[in-house]
Amino acid sequence: MAEFALPKNSRISSRGKNHKAPAGGRVKKFKIYRYDPETGENPRYDTFELDLDETGPMVLDALLKIKSEVDPTLTFRRSCREGICGSCSMNINGRNGLACTTAIEDYKGDVRITPLPHMDVVKDLVPDFTHFFAQYASIEPWLKTKTPDPSGKERLQSPEDRAKLDGLYECILCACCSSSCPSYWWNSDRFLGPAILLQAYRWLADSRDEMTGERLDELEDPFRLYRCHTIMNCANVCPKGLNPAKAIAETKKMLVERAV
Ligand code: SF4
Ligand code: SF4
Ligand code: FES
Repeated sequence: MAEFALPKNSRISSRGKNHKAPAGGRVKKFKIYRYDPETGENPRYDTFELDLDETGPMVLDALLKIKSEVDPTLTFRRSCREGICGSCSMNINGRNGLACTTAIEDYKGDVRITPLPHMDVVKDLVPDFTHFFAQYASIEPWLKTKTPDPSGKERLQSPEDRAKLDGLYECILCACCSSSCPSYWWNSDRFLGPAILLQAYRWLADSRDEMTGERLDELEDPFRLYRCHTIMNCANVCPKGLNPAKAIAETKKMLVERAV
């Protein structure tokens, strides 16, 4: 299991708080990264003990219990709580994942939770996605056409062409992959990273899109695309089982094929 670096603004203070669980029960310790830029204090870890017999099964259940019963200031994102919205992505014991689909029982000892690595932190477990979503917008993630639809109604797609989008359309933009990619850590100002490149390929692979050449022109750049060195962390951590590295390889193949 890969251990990833801490968030960008991390000089961990030793002054963390401890919350003890009542005696008895199945006690589990959760060490949680805390940071509030408005206080001017360094980040710290707070430790919360929970009785697992009184807590739901997932890491998100533990966070919700802490927030509602112990410390209402604990800050994290979540919405669907079933692996669909992508908002509860975080780093759990050194591995990026979704808190709502990660079982507490998967961890034998203490559970350490930090924000996604190498991203600025808004507060506690909330990373700043401003740059990530700006990169997403930059690939113009919508169907682009030049000709009127022949039927005058909608653009049809054969089942075979639709199947080419499997493994791409399921991406929930959680950024688990991009924030586990060493190339993205060091070059996120110019490298689009695995999540956005998978999304870019989703439109290259769409039989209805008529801007393939223009989309490839935009990607043909030493940084935007070619900073991927096939390290494969992205495919290893994707909670939806997707393979951004393969999408990146397919994009590079399209660029080679159009050059010959
Ligand atoms: S395969 Fe490419 S995009 Fe994926 S982690 Fe490695 S360098 Fe990053
Ligand atoms: S490819 Fe997977 S890990 Fe990356 S953003 Fe999409 S769902 Fe998340
Ligand atoms: S809460 Fe939506 S993916 Fe976890």
